[in-house]
Amino acid sequence: MINDKIKNLFVFGTRPEAIKMAPVITAFKECDQFFETKVCVTAQHREMLDQVLSFFGIVPDFDLNLMTPNQTLNRITGEALLLLDDILKEYDPDNVFVHGDTTTSMAASLASFNRGIKVSHIEAGLRTYNKYSPYPEEINRQITSKIADFHFSPTLNAKSNLLKEGIDPESIVVTGNTVIDALFFSQTKLVDYESAQVEELKRQLDFSKQIILVTGHRRENHGSGFLSICSALDRVSKLDNITIIYPVHMNPNVKGPVYERLGDNPNIILIPPLSYPDFVWLMSKSKIILTDSGGVQEEAPSLGVPVLVMRDTTERPEAVDAGTVVLVGSDQDRIFNTCKALLDDLNLYEEMASVKNPYGDGHASGRILDFFLKKYGIGEVKLVNA
Ligand code: UD1
Ligand code: UDP
Repeated sequence: MINDKIKNLFVFGTRPEAIKMAPVITAFKECDQFFETKVCVTAQHREMLDQVLSFFGIVPDFDLNLMTPNQTLNRITGEALLLLDDILKEYDPDNVFVHGDTTTSMAASLASFNRGIKVSHIEAGLRTYNKYSPYPEEINRQITSKIADFHFSPTLNAKSNLLKEGIDPESIVVTGNTVIDALFFSQTKLVDYESAQVEELKRQLDFSKQIILVTGHRRENHGSGFLSICSALDRVSKLDNITIIYPVHMNPNVKGPVYERLGDNPNIILIPPLSYPDFVWLMSKSKIILTDSGGVQEEAPSLGVPVLVMRDTTERPEAVDAGTVVLVGSDQDRIFNTCKALLDDLNLYEEMASVKNPYGDGHASGRILDFFLKKYGIGEVKLVNA
């Protein structure tokens, strides 16, 4: 009987949240005898979100459609709070699931708390303890942790951050990062993978050269950071036997300067954001990835690709400690010199490329489901090869 089911509402709004929530949604939907699983997208992102929804076959039950061009943080927060309130009132879920550190996640947590609804936070406990880096994500996730009732941490380090902040240990589960579940799922689809975009990439890219893949979007790099990154890319593009490909984020504060500075460089291919499987395909063909993305630095170690992270701080020290990621900030000399050193030194390259991924084994979603099956006394999940 539908009314006896536990009602779960997943709320997210951006591309990375959708990728990382998709395997958890699938896991709960496969248990539909016990759980009613609904999805609400704020659509803080639109096109980039829709690309992911379509790949994972997720059809939102509620779509707040709130993205506007060059939106402000306060506008997203305000609209999300107001529009979510109607949905929470109408649907009245038992649990709301939020992810990570976006403005959508912070607003959805607050809106749920204000309605007395339990909040489950996936990818909980990442910290830099620098409120301006990443901005506004560090504060978004700290607020979310304060509110959340259940915390699903990707690593032991993330759990220990929460413990230091006085969060009840019983409410924290270390699961691995669900991004690895999503990656493994996408890889099952990538055997003999073909898509119009991949065919186009095969035409555009010279595979006899070493491919450097670039992404970037962080707000703290907007302005001078991106200009410096563009100068570094311009210099890297002049090295021997290199080609750079850069799927450019749709944020106008990124797209504007990047196309203006690099649009005429014949050795840098600028393209719109790729669908998730196309992007995973491209990562697997790359020699090095230059990025400020959180998700990309968690995925790349599984594909054996070293990552240079164009940020000054990190909430993901595990990959740096393991040796597969190097923080290079946005300083053009540092980006160029580190990239060149890695290309020139085969031993260094092999060391970085061979590191085991510290972010998970592909069973994070199963562990989250298992927590709820046990919590409600329903059963448990048998994780194969965990
Ligand atoms: C957002 C998140 C960030 C996350 C990132 C992932 C916040 C404050 N920021 O940053 O934490 O790491 O997403 O990519 O939560 N746009 C489009 N189409 C899209 C997406 C964006 O046109 O599909 C443009 C719009 O002009 C939009 C702008 O990008 O106003 C900024 O989007 P927003 O979500 O506010 O910030 P991001 O930089 O994407
Ligand atoms: N990604 C994608 N298409 C692209 C670039 C990235 O699907 O053109 C995926 C990537 O595989 C990763 C996620 O988007 O899973 C990262 O998103 P983003 O860098 O926007 O956000 P962050 O992870 O920094 O929050």
